[in-house]
Amino acid sequence: MKVFGNALSTTIPGIVSLGDIIHGLTWKKLIDPADKEAIEARMKAKTRTCPICGEDVAPSISEVFSAIFIMPNRCQCEVDQYLEEERVDAFHRHQAAIEEYFPFQKDISEEYSAMKFDNFDQEQGTKAALIKAWTMAQKFHVFVKEGKGLFFHGMSGSGKTHLAVAITHSLLSQGKAVAFCEWSTWQTEVKKTWNRRSKVDESYLLNLLIGSDLCVLDDVGVLRKDKWGEFPVTLSPDEERSLFMIVNKRILKHRPTIITSNLTDLEFEMAVGKRIHDRVTGKSLVEHLKRDKSYRQGGQG
Ligand SMILES: Nc1ncnc2c1ncn2[C@@H]1O[C@H](COP(=O)(O)OP(=O)(O)OP(=O)(O)O)[C@@H](O)[C@H]1O
Ligand SMILES: [Mg+2]
Ligand SMILES: [Zn+2]
Repeated sequence: MKVFGNALSTTIPGIVSLGDIIHGLTWKKLIDPADKEAIEARMKAKTRTCPICGEDVAPSISEVFSAIFIMPNRCQCEVDQYLEEERVDAFHRHQAAIEEYFPFQKDISEEYSAMKFDNFDQEQGTKAALIKAWTMAQKFHVFVKEGKGLFFHGMSGSGKTHLAVAITHSLLSQGKAVAFCEWSTWQTEVKKTWNRRSKVDESYLLNLLIGSDLCVLDDVGVLRKDKWGEFPVTLSPDEERSLFMIVNKRILKHRPTIITSNLTDLEFEMAVGKRIHDRVTGKSLVEHLKRDKSYRQGGQG
């Protein structure tokens, strides 16, 4: 069977469905290929005007069992509009699901809503991170093409979350699906799925993070203080497996990830293990944010 053009299918535009063919066979008159006059008359009758561009849209001609049937067609701009609506719908469904489990816009705190590029003071120790963050927000497609993310580490109060939130605001306003997940929230949400009344399981949450255009994992790895000093807390095997899946799958799909941590590079490696550390540092622009004191304490950059 040969099918030409974007037939006016009731299911998917651009594709003649089995339903269309059965409909055509049972309800539309099949034309003898030798009957040029009948073909021409049917072609004329089935030509439609595209409601978007106003051009005439020639019908599609199909050959079935040595007979011909002619059906109205969709214009390419109608197909494009349909696909764009589908894409926007899928985006809203995905973003709504993210917001349900990892709310960013829904219950945005005053602190997060204030974290923008234009109120980030330019300081020596964090300037390079600011430039990288700004570049990601402006040229996200380049990061996608190169399959690169950002890894910001440095002391508490140095502006890591501020920059990650500023990128999130910017990309959300550009219509990108962004999952912003504080790592402690990940653990809480996963534990909730263990309840047998939970509507979702861990793989659903993983897919929310893996499927987003950008995924921010804020504050990965913590320090524990005891009488001998401060030590990075190693991730639990469950956490390590989840983090590995998120990082690795996103790298394979060329989806940028931002990771922030107040551990040093070495401590981060001790906390997350060699395999995750290697992937994160190898596939990210890495920046160590430096200040003499936390911004919260009013120190200098
Ligand atoms: N350069 C800066 N300009 C303006 N505000 C800043 C700057 N750096 C940090 N801040 C502000 O200081 C506070 C702490 O910054 P942020 O939360 O980004 O720190 P952090 O590096 O993520 O720290 P932590 O490791 O404790 O999470 C925030 O309110 C943030 O808006
Ligand atoms: Mg932070
Ligand atoms: Zn058109």
